[in-house]
Amino acid sequence: MAEPKETNTMDKVVSLCKRRGFIFQSSDIYGGLSNTWDYGPYGVELKNNVKRAWWKANVYMRNDIYGMDAAILMHPKVWEASGHVKNFFDLKSDCKDCKKRFKAEDLKDKSKCPECSGQLTDARPFNLMFKTYQGPVEETGNEIYMRPETAQGMFVNFANILDSRHPKLPFGLAQIGKAFRNEITPGNFTFRTREFEQMEIEYFVKPDEADKALEEWIESRFNWYLGLGIKKENLRKRQHEKQELAHYAKACTDIEYQFPFSTGGGAARGGIWSELEGIANRADFDLKQHAEASGKDLRYFNNVTNERFYPYIIEPSGGVDRTVLAFLVDAYNEEKVKDDTRVVLKLHKELAPVKAAVLPLLKNRPELVEMATRLAADLKKCFNTVYDDTGAIGKLYRRQDEVGTCYCITVDVQSLEDKQATVRDRDTMLQERIAIDRMKEYLTNKLA
Ligand code: GAP
Repeated sequence: MAEPKETNTMDKVVSLCKRRGFIFQSSDIYGGLSNTWDYGPYGVELKNNVKRAWWKANVYMRNDIYGMDAAILMHPKVWEASGHVKNFFDLKSDCKDCKKRFKAEDLKDKSKCPECSGQLTDARPFNLMFKTYQGPVEETGNEIYMRPETAQGMFVNFANILDSRHPKLPFGLAQIGKAFRNEITPGNFTFRTREFEQMEIEYFVKPDEADKALEEWIESRFNWYLGLGIKKENLRKRQHEKQELAHYAKACTDIEYQFPFSTGGGAARGGIWSELEGIANRADFDLKQHAEASGKDLRYFNNVTNERFYPYIIEPSGGVDRTVLAFLVDAYNEEKVKDDTRVVLKLHKELAPVKAAVLPLLKNRPELVEMATRLAADLKKCFNTVYDDTGAIGKLYRRQDEVGTCYCITVDVQSLEDKQATVRDRDTMLQERIAIDRMKEYLTNKLA
């Protein structure tokens, strides 16, 4: 197993994220809202690319998965039927002296405050769902929840999908969207927050095919991270113990990443090995619960055998923000180049926020600037391309390396004569002269 990166890699990534516009503290000018983050210009590109790669692999490249986008607000009965009102809580203890609140499972000594040694209250359940009110009157009858998982939006649409698309088992639904949890111990940058995004699949199978489907999904999801460049030694699978399983799950395996956190995610999460995604067998729990609570028949009808039954559900459920963080940390490199150190984000090309940067060597030569801006405008039609003439070429290269730009294209005096430009590869730093009128084709092949 690889040595974990030195603990300050995390600090370096956090600082890079702020300095270069990936991720900012929310409401920064007001002192910040703790553990809440905003994605800046590069961050939103990276995040969108992660979501696009997930959607491509799980919706476009398959014939058995349908995309969905359900509302965040749902009928409150959904959360009663799903078991979240009753079961979705953490046990917490409060310090009678300093008033801080702790998650009971993180406490070694359940009676003593780890910060001020004051006396702790007995552990009490604390529901993680955010509540708000629908309509102008704030009263109990109008209470509504911010969804704590996107999954339920797919379960309650099961009958709509059967009626509108007539799929045969096995088939799945896929959705990416925001979820909200009033976490007691958020932290480690974007790893655990109260507002986050999930990428979830609900895959409906015949009950006797569930175990096989679970194994196939664990492999498929594990390989997705590797295929996008996560180092093998930083990724592992971990099967849940019975007592760890969520109230709806029969079995679950987590895909974990070895984050360079200085404080672990808690013993139950395996120290710095922390969950990126859980792949669970939810059996027929959700469809049965919703059928009973709504009075609607949510069984699947097999018109060959004339059987009606509840399918089992295999659920690969990942977090967008955690995945983005893992890609950032894994891609972060410092390399010695002569007497200098270059910071480079070696992100997979599909994920890199910017694919090409066009840089004129001399900004006081209008013909060069014109040639470079025309090239950038042309490339923008196909890839996210930037134009930059605000520094010396060495500085511009370093700036692009730091944000993971795949190719830097330099237009120089010679370009005016031979109509070629120099293309520099981010990872190898090797340079090639390429005809400007072939640049789009060249980059398309390289980025494919
Ligand atoms: N529908 C199943 C479900 O929600 P989960 O393990 O509670 O399962 C799935 O959440 C994924 O959502 C996690 O693997 C993680 O990546 C992400 N996630 C959960 N809570 C999170 C939080 N507080 N902050 C950021 N991501 C979170």
